[in-house]
Formats: sequence, structure tokens, C-alpha cells
Amino acid sequence: MSTTTSTSPPRPLGCGPRRSAGSRAVSPIASLARPRGRDLSGPELQAFVAELADRPELWIHLVKHDATQRFYEELLSDDHLTAWLICWMNDHDTGFHDHDTSAGAVAIVGGCVHEDRLAIGGAPRNRAFAVGESFHFSPADIHRVRHVGSDPAVTLHAYSPPLQRMGAYAVAADGVLARHSVSSAVELRPLHISGQLGR
Ligand SMILES: [Fe+2]
Repeated sequence: MSTTTSTSPPRPLGCGPRRSAGSRAVSPIASLARPRGRDLSGPELQAFVAELADRPELWIHLVKHDATQRFYEELLSDDHLTAWLICWMNDHDTGFHDHDTSAGAVAIVGGCVHEDRLAIGGAPRNRAFAVGESFHFSPADIHRVRHVGSDPAVTLHAYSPPLQRMGAYAVAADGVLARHSVSSAVELRPLHISGQLGR
């Protein structure tokens, strides 16, 4: 997915948006306060993205919207943390997924998104998040993030350890819930096998 010519392995993609062409890490972000030398917990990641949200000069120039897909820029990648800016519009939707072994956090810096937590035997637990709000999740959590509203949305994401694989969920024709392991380099979208979860 990367458009660079280096031999580096593909970068993970958070909630699965597509990588923009020619993106580069923004070095000042690496100096933001955070635990060093170990993986971060969900609450620690939430504190990191909240601090990043308060520093728009580090990412505002990267905002760009694409009606056909989520647009993203990698902001930081090291041994314990990856961070992205993601731009949403037109009801862009990840579908239900997990983050394999990674915890994560999201801060909303533009527009509004909904986070749904998958619930068996009932409607998904839905929470709306607007500018100034944030949330976190553990590797065990299954969620779906989708754009809502008429205005485009912008979100900041952080994952620890860096995302390598994700699990995408769908209901098979016989009604059995299935988890599909996908590379973090794949753009997540709702899986349509016999129908989309949560609808
Ligand atoms: Fe996610």
C-alpha cells in the first residue's frame, strides 16, 4: 500500500484507511510526552491523542478529504506506537473489526463519528463522538467506526503495539459469526456475506 520506493515493510493502517501518496513521518510529533521504552495502554494512548489534538500545527496541513475512501496520513511510527490522521466523509464505515494484539485510541478533531461495540443478542452499543472528545479500546474489543453528519470528520488515532493484523467480522449465510484476519495494510470496509452486522 505504501507508495514509497524503500524496502520497508508495509505500514499498518489503523482503522484501515488508504495511505496517501508520498506521506512522511512528522518528526515533532515524536517528541510529545508519552511513556517510553514499552507499549502503551488504552488510557495512555488516549492521553497521547488528546495531547496531539491540542497541537493542530503538527497535523492540520495534512487534512484532505476523498469522497470515495478514507484518507489518512501516518504521523508517527516506532517500536511501540503508531499514529495517524484520518479524514472521513460520506458515511465512510470500517465495519466491525478488532485490532488483534494492539490497544488503540481516537481523538476527534473535526466533524463527528460513531463508535459501535458489537453486542450479541442486541443492538450494537452506539456512542457518538464530536470535536474535543476521544475514546480508547483494548485488543479484546470489537468495534466499528463510521462517519456521521453532513460535515467531513477528522480523527487522530494511536495504536500500541504497532498494528500488524486486524480481524474483520461478518455473518455467514448460515448465521454464524466469522472473523477474517486481514492485514493492517487493507482498507477496512463492512463485509457483505449475507448481510452487514449491526444493520
Ligand atoms: Fe478500529
